[in-house]
Amino acid sequence: MVSLDFLLRSLILILLTRQLFSSLDTIKPNQVFRDGDILISKNKTFAFGFFKPGSSVQSYLGIWYNKIPEKTFVWVANRDNPINNSSKVLLINRSGNLVLLDESRGVEVWSTNVSSRNSNIAQLLDSGNLVLMGQISQVVAWQSFDYPTDTLLPNMKIGLDLKTGLNRFLTSWRSSDDPGTGKSINRLDLSGSPQFVLYRGPTLVFRTAPWPWIWPVGDDNSGMYKANFDNNKDGISQWFTMEDPSIVMHFVVDEIGSWNRLAWDDQSRQWNKFWSMPMDPCQEYGYCGAFASCTPGSRNAFVCTCLTGYVPKSPRDWYLRNGSDGCVRKRNTSMCGNGEGFVKVGHVKLPDTSAAQALIGLNSEQCKQKCLRKCSCSAYSAMSTSERGNVCLLWFGELMDIVAYTDWGSDLHVRIDSLDLAEKNEDFFPKEEKLVIPLLSVGMVSVLLVTILCIQLIKRRKYKEHQDQGQHKRVSIIPAALRRPKRISTAYNLQEGNSHVDLPIYDLRTIIEATNNFSSANKLGQGGFGSVYKGQLPDGQEIAVKRLSKDSGQGPMEFANEMMLIVQLQHKNLVKLLGCCIHKEEKMLVYEYLPNKSLDTFLFDQSRKLELDWRKRFEIIVGIARGMMYLHLDSRLKIIHRDLKASNVLLDVTMNPKISDFGMAKIFEGDQSQGNTRRVVGTYGYMSPEYAIFGKFSTKSDVFSFGVLLLEIISGKRNNVDFTEDPSLNLIGHVWDLWREERALEMVEPSLKESLLSNEVLRCIHVALLCVQDRAIDRPAMSDVVFMLGSNTSLPPPKQPAFFLCAPSDVDKWVIGAKQCSVDEVTITLVNAR
Ligand SMILES: *[C@@H]1O[C@H](CO)[C@@H](O)[C@H](O)[C@H]1NC(C)=O
Ligand SMILES: *[C@@H]1O[C@H](CO)[C@@H](O)[C@H](O)[C@H]1NC(C)=O
Ligand SMILES: *[C@@H]1O[C@H](CO)[C@@H](O)[C@H](O)[C@H]1NC(C)=O
Ligand SMILES: *[C@@H]1O[C@H](CO)[C@@H](O)[C@H](O)[C@H]1NC(C)=O
Ligand SMILES: *[C@@H]1O[C@H](CO)[C@@H](O)[C@H](O)[C@H]1NC(C)=O
Ligand SMILES: *[C@@H]1O[C@H](CO)[C@@H](O)[C@H](O)[C@H]1NC(C)=O
Ligand SMILES: *[C@@H]1O[C@H](CO)[C@@H](O)[C@H](O)[C@H]1NC(C)=O
Repeated sequence: MVSLDFLLRSLILILLTRQLFSSLDTIKPNQVFRDGDILISKNKTFAFGFFKPGSSVQSYLGIWYNKIPEKTFVWVANRDNPINNSSKVLLINRSGNLVLLDESRGVEVWSTNVSSRNSNIAQLLDSGNLVLMGQISQVVAWQSFDYPTDTLLPNMKIGLDLKTGLNRFLTSWRSSDDPGTGKSINRLDLSGSPQFVLYRGPTLVFRTAPWPWIWPVGDDNSGMYKANFDNNKDGISQWFTMEDPSIVMHFVVDEIGSWNRLAWDDQSRQWNKFWSMPMDPCQEYGYCGAFASCTPGSRNAFVCTCLTGYVPKSPRDWYLRNGSDGCVRKRNTSMCGNGEGFVKVGHVKLPDTSAAQALIGLNSEQCKQKCLRKCSCSAYSAMSTSERGNVCLLWFGELMDIVAYTDWGSDLHVRIDSLDLAEKNEDFFPKEEKLVIPLLSVGMVSVLLVTILCIQLIKRRKYKEHQDQGQHKRVSIIPAALRRPKRISTAYNLQEGNSHVDLPIYDLRTIIEATNNFSSANKLGQGGFGSVYKGQLPDGQEIAVKRLSKDSGQGPMEFANEMMLIVQLQHKNLVKLLGCCIHKEEKMLVYEYLPNKSLDTFLFDQSRKLELDWRKRFEIIVGIARGMMYLHLDSRLKIIHRDLKASNVLLDVTMNPKISDFGMAKIFEGDQSQGNTRRVVGTYGYMSPEYAIFGKFSTKSDVFSFGVLLLEIISGKRNNVDFTEDPSLNLIGHVWDLWREERALEMVEPSLKESLLSNEVLRCIHVALLCVQDRAIDRPAMSDVVFMLGSNTSLPPPKQPAFFLCAPSDVDKWVIGAKQCSVDEVTITLVNAR
């Protein structure tokens, strides 16, 4: 009867053990946890043990709700490594790890991976968290919350833990019978400003609104739970807490790729699904593409709308109600230092923040200024939060996945150009006031002018009132060109489309008196297009008059039309054109007068060069770049300067640079858009190879000139004359040699050494070398240059630049030297100073 006794004892022991485990929440050292054993958390909310999901014959170890009849699993240990019907054992081994063994096969199926040895008990907590810790120390060495499956429980954190280095995210089951790692993933995207994203395989299908507005947008949770976010030295994570702990609720990512919110309904005894994201087309990531917003619930209308200033990228698809291509800028106007501003789009789910930046502590106005100062900033949103105070979000580049609501959401401020800004403000006024002036008799023009002036005054006042109501803080941005000029003798007949612009015309008498009959004492200089004289108008204003040489080939009307466009170009880095004077063959341009003369008189003068320290020079460089960018990007007429050089950069009293002589090439050559001309204007030393040799110009030939100018400003040497010792070498070649030998700083003007910021100087040299690349395609655009100068982005390495230039005036010579001045080769070696 020994065996019977033994059986009985065993049975009692087994029953006892059962009893032990079913009433306990802890596995102790030397205890063995087998199939059928169960841990129950203290107040019986959760259970832990082996289970077979659905119709599966495979066994898994996991956690489920203990009190809910519909068995709902919240965590699985060996999800990708199930055990067939053999005996299974879970124990804490000697090095303090939880280890799951397949006994019949004798293999380890799953284990924790801790190295501390200080852990010797495992406990299932009421939160649903299984922790492995020291029995006495209670220090947690491992916890199931750090290795989520598909379910997010209250207080379970998703995101990065900087202490453990773990990035915690949810992954769906493969199917309802298979808890194996599926294809849908829910995680915190940390690439820009954090946001919670849902992926189906590689495809981003849904995102919640970004921090600090967090998820889930549109969730009418009636205070049932609270969303939390942490971003500090411990990590970046998101989690939720229950306001009423008696409610059983969780989020789960399912195998079809939805993100669900579920709560247990005691009455109906079933899970109540509040929502399943993405629940409508507008929630689907990028349904309307970039720069568009999606308005849910528009029954018969298309849900997608382009943002202000944008139009559908693929109009046909768009009108067939496929918005996935999104929208693009309506005009390629510059939105950088060009009178741009913002339009508010209220009540939206904020766009994708994967390339956005969050700044703490900036108020709405500071946030706006921050965005305005960064040319690549496409939108901002500012908000004050209870936890972090003021938060400012800045977006760069594309604005994706905006959803427009009516009653909730955040305010987004989207960058728009000056024209849209003007239009937006015009919208405050009744439509009838928008006037288009038809071609009218001279008599009527004066009557109309008075009327327009009155209307403008009324508009301004209304606008002012509007501002005073505090609804719009921005100052009037009606473009300067739309304002009345102050000094008009005659208004020239206007082209259609320019109906709101007048060209100030000065009569010849006024000019002759102002310049003392073009006396040689008043002559300021002689340029490529004519002589310049200083003058003074009767009211005391000083002017510079450029008397154009007579071979411009344009009739007075053509000239006036051209001038009308050029007079509209207004930028703080361009010399201001006040008007013109036309008398028979004689054509003159009237500019503001700048007492400080041109940049070359400083750069290359032994004593005056000392007035330009590095800081000043850098400001000048940036100013010139901005002015050039404005010329290149202006919407109405893309101006290619064609003769940018130090003597064409004037300095005002504060040494702010102003580019002069722009638009000149346009007057002299007519249509610039064909980009090919027989007549080469420009100055030897500043010309790109393709322009000097083939007369082919583009904005990139201006970029080349800018690069040369940049090197001159840094070095204080002229590209074309200061390298006479070795005629095969010029400034560019000299700099290139130093650059390759990593001695680039040696090129710097010696007088600058004290004020130098070597990183900034090296960056400028780097940019300059990119600008003087041999092939136009390798040179950056002016807008890139502005960006490169103003940021710390890494720059592409320069290739060998085009440092051997042909003299354009000596066409014969370059033909003679054609062997060296080869077009096919990178270098063109014939050099000859004028
Ligand atoms: C567990 O019980 C404690 C007190 O007994 C209670 O405060 C707590 O809310 C319960 N937890 C859950 C998840 O029900
Ligand atoms: C488990 O059983 C299935 C069939 O039921 C079989 O395909 C699989 O190979 C088995 N796995 C192991 C580890 O024995
Ligand atoms: C599981 O084991 C039992 C007996 O040990 C056997 O009858 C049964 O066929 C096995 N099932 C599978 C799926 O291997
Ligand atoms: C305990 O288990 C871990 C994980 O499998 C393993 O690395 C370690 O060697 C084991 N320790 C002992 C003493 O068996
Ligand atoms: C266990 O942790 C160590 C470092 O703590 C790591 O190097 C190793 O890859 C981990 N092993 C597993 C199976 O996760
Ligand atoms: C919308 O157009 C894109 C191409 O522009 C195409 O790839 C996509 O399948 C279209 N979507 C629908 C729903 O037709
Ligand atoms: C505007 O710029 C984009 C990209 O730079 C270009 O594809 C497009 O053709 C330009 N449009 C106009 C009207 O110049």
